[in-house]
Amino acid sequence: TPRINCICCIGAGYVGGPTCAVIALKCPEIQVLIVDKNQDRINAWNGETLPIYEPGLDEIVKHCRGRNLFFSTDIDAGIRDAQLIFISVNTPTKTYGIGKGRATDLQFVEAAARHIGQIATGKKIIVEKSTVPVKAAESIAKILYSNIDDNVSFEVLSNPEFLAEGTAINDLLQPDRVLIGGSQTDPGIEAINQLAWVYEHWVPPSKVLRTNVWSSELSKLASNAFLAQKVSSINAVSAICEATGADISDVAHSIGLDKRIGSKYLQASIGFGGSCFQKDVLSLTYICEALNLTEVADYWHQVVVMNNYQKKRFARKIIQCLFHTVSNKRIAIFGFTFKKDTADTRESSSIYVGKYLMDEEARLVVYDPKADKGQIISDLREVSSQDPQRVDRLVSVINDPYDAAKDAHAIVICTEWDEFKALDYEKIYNSMYKPAYIFDGRIILDHAALLRIGFHVEVVGKVMKKPVNDLTPF
Ligand code: NAD
Ligand code: UDX
Repeated sequence: TPRINCICCIGAGYVGGPTCAVIALKCPEIQVLIVDKNQDRINAWNGETLPIYEPGLDEIVKHCRGRNLFFSTDIDAGIRDAQLIFISVNTPTKTYGIGKGRATDLQFVEAAARHIGQIATGKKIIVEKSTVPVKAAESIAKILYSNIDDNVSFEVLSNPEFLAEGTAINDLLQPDRVLIGGSQTDPGIEAINQLAWVYEHWVPPSKVLRTNVWSSELSKLASNAFLAQKVSSINAVSAICEATGADISDVAHSIGLDKRIGSKYLQASIGFGGSCFQKDVLSLTYICEALNLTEVADYWHQVVVMNNYQKKRFARKIIQCLFHTVSNKRIAIFGFTFKKDTADTRESSSIYVGKYLMDEEARLVVYDPKADKGQIISDLREVSSQDPQRVDRLVSVINDPYDAAKDAHAIVICTEWDEFKALDYEKIYNSMYKPAYIFDGRIILDHAALLRIGFHVEVVGKVMKKPVNDLTPF
């Protein structure tokens, strides 16, 4: 069989962009065309400042662009020229109709599939890269075949993406595994082998797993559900720590040394964020309900319930510590992205912590090293739908952490950016209102040093001492 020499990816987002840039890097003989309907995004991919920030991405894109990596809005041409097409479009939670707030919105996947069905000729391999509900590949196949003549044939594969933002390039270069699901027929197995061949340019064959389509689709949702569950579990334990005086760092360390559990994803926090965890757990929950597996649905749903609780609990703690009123108090929010090393703010816990504080009329001064100012404002507006003006009234975004902290009653660490560890907290303390509070929602700062400076320190999963020299009765 002739090898693949042209790949198209529909969707130039956080997944399509980095994934296909790495394919282009590792497979110089393959032409990689990334297409998107969003002209601004494509312009950015073709320009100096890429539309997403991801360590290592710039170098790869600039190395391959114009050689065997191309970004365009000409979706028709991409579909026509490629033997293999990734569908890497967004699959958000539905915001309307049946399953609102839980089910996956498949409208973009369907639109991409219809587009392929209209344009494609000959033999094509269609790869579902987006995270989708189990059995979505079946619907994609039906849509593809709904409108074609006899000279066209499709093989639909599932090839979910496991990269995490902030470490996407590393995750892609050295994946724990690559998962390819396909139909267990001769053409299906042939298509699986073709895609495996692409990955095996740099991934050891032992790490390229082959399954049927549904196992592959379910593995992706289950994998994210397990990871999110681990975070919710440690966050649940953090609440017990705060109520008892146990220390979450010690507890997490002890738990994590058990090889059966493992030390990763045991970092207590203000709750997980990002575009995937909540969406995928909700999707799994909805699927379980549709399958009449009520107890299973309830089990996974609790992961999201716990996460919402953690965000709210953290905000309540801030309000309680600041003498039960934050009205008109200046509060510096350090970090707005959902994790470090990304500019992505989708579903960031900072948004919800910000919302709860705005509900109490706090004045927020946000500093984030990478998040876009306009994005921060629009995220906060979205959770202020009853009173969008309050964001104009209460929020400012500042590009210097020292300016943000000046005259503030409290600093709230929402994202674990490394630079927050290296700030001059003595200088910050001197510029703040007293008593000066610091809420470490990511457990990244040197708490003993902060106490010595005079800060009141509050940390997720820990009961802190009073500052040295503190004589107040609080
Ligand atoms: P994204 O929103 O960043 O990108 C999706 C892109 O698809 C957008 O630029 C949009 O304009 C484009 N698009 C939508 N419909 C289109 C159409 N019909 N034709 C052409 N372009 C179209 O989304 P993302 O974060 O890259 O996620 C994509 C998928 O990958 C989702 O299913 C997500 O669940 C999954 N995923 C995401 C991550 C992550 O870390 N972001 C990780 C693993 C899997
Ligand atoms: C996740 C999955 O890790 C990835 O495999 C999948 O492809 C997409 O979803 P992502 O959302 O990009 O990736 O980042 P991740 O590092 O998993 O973090 C998700 C959220 O959980 C972040 O808000 C992070 O801060 C939080 N988290 C993670 C914790 O609070 N504690 C932890 O121990 C780990």
